[in-house]
Amino acid sequence: MVYPIVKFGDPVLELEAETVTEFDTPDLNQFLADMFESMYAAKGVGLAAPQIGFSRKISVIDVSNGQRPEDKLVLINPTIVKVEGKQVGEEGCLSVPGFREQVRRAKRVTIRAQNSKSEPFEMTGEDLLARAFLHETDHLYGRLYISHISALKRDLLKRKIRKLQRAGEWD
Ligand code: NI
Repeated sequence: MVYPIVKFGDPVLELEAETVTEFDTPDLNQFLADMFESMYAAKGVGLAAPQIGFSRKISVIDVSNGQRPEDKLVLINPTIVKVEGKQVGEEGCLSVPGFREQVRRAKRVTIRAQNSKSEPFEMTGEDLLARAFLHETDHLYGRLYISHISALKRDLLKRKIRKLQRAGEWD
């Protein structure tokens, strides 16, 4: 099923999510399928479980947007193990719809995570994939990409969001 995306302002987005301890269950497999379905429906390249209201350390990524099956990634209990270089580029978030900001990130990122069967693996990504690793892992620790922009830009963005909230055009 497609879950609605939780928007900025919901406290679940600012909590550290729970570590996953049960693997390879029908519930988990269904949940992962629902996460991909929800991400594709929202036209995102990554989605973290808190963004659909589940405070669990699970994220899914597909930088091909459903075009290449081999690009589908499940990251359970991920941690960033190495970052190198830098890239500056536009970044957005399904939970902060309608906004995009220039964000400086590492260019090359190595992540360690578990798959749906609990098997640990490491993977290195560059460019968009590196950015997705950092963005989605941040979500699982209660951090949004707007914590990586200047305080001035962040305040401006929050003011615009509050205006949308007051107008009933947010959530
Ligand atoms: Ni996001």
